[in-house]
Amino acid sequence: MPVVLKTAEELERMRIAGRLASEVLDFISPHVKPGVSTGKLNDLCHDYMVREQGTVPAPLNYAPPGYKPFPKSICTSVNHQVCHGVPGERVLKPGDILNIDITVIKDGYHGDCSRMFYVGEPSIQAQRLVDVTFECMWLGIRAVRAGARLGDIGAAIQAHAEKHGFSVVREFCGHGIGRKFHEEPQVLHYGKPGTGLTLQPGMTFTVEPMINAGKPGIRELADGWTIVTKDHSLSAQWEHTVAVTEQGYEVLTLSRGAAPAPA
Ligand code: MF3
Ligand code: CO
Ligand code: CO
Repeated sequence: MPVVLKTAEELERMRIAGRLASEVLDFISPHVKPGVSTGKLNDLCHDYMVREQGTVPAPLNYAPPGYKPFPKSICTSVNHQVCHGVPGERVLKPGDILNIDITVIKDGYHGDCSRMFYVGEPSIQAQRLVDVTFECMWLGIRAVRAGARLGDIGAAIQAHAEKHGFSVVREFCGHGIGRKFHEEPQVLHYGKPGTGLTLQPGMTFTVEPMINAGKPGIRELADGWTIVTKDHSLSAQWEHTVAVTEQGYEVLTLSRGAAPAPA
């Protein structure tokens, strides 16, 4: 399947879906505190999406080839969980770090974004990992413009992560997005400048680096979804959906509560 270029009308719908996804994160932020379970966060987000927004939670029953249907409406990945954490009974405690990943469908189009949250006060090391991962995402986004190559994005992310002694997860990547949750191209978070697909206006994809404090290796838990670091080191992730423009990029997953881009 080739890369789908979006028309102006489609981009308008992607903007709406993107903003709504980001607004779910705004909504859930005050609920992320010690004592809350990840299952409760899921239920609150689910109801907000379905009842308040009229959006469809894309993860619910999502079943790519080789996977069983994802049983919940959001992903919650705590501490050494890298991504695709399945919400459940786990209760958050002070010092935990948490990624919440939201994907909504509105009017046939997907918006996909995630943020890191601190439960109580983070350790210095956790804070550094979360900050560097945020910078990695933005360095990747800032490499986006018509004529740039996919490898430019990955190289910018990898260089920054490794400069700080962290490592880039290889098995999962950003992805084209639109009518489908995951479409082409694959947006690797490592690579070489000047290599890979040339970016064109109208492409829409995510940039969502997963950065480990320790080694890059991962494994999947028996639930068939949750990914953890093999060495049990902390992992962080941030995600935006972006569109390629003539001049550069447009971030589609923005809302009042989205963290501002770094200077
Ligand atoms: N939102 C994730 C991403 O950024 C995908 C989650 S798939 C799910 O690509 F089924 F776990 F929700
Ligand atoms: Co994504
Ligand atoms: Co996501």
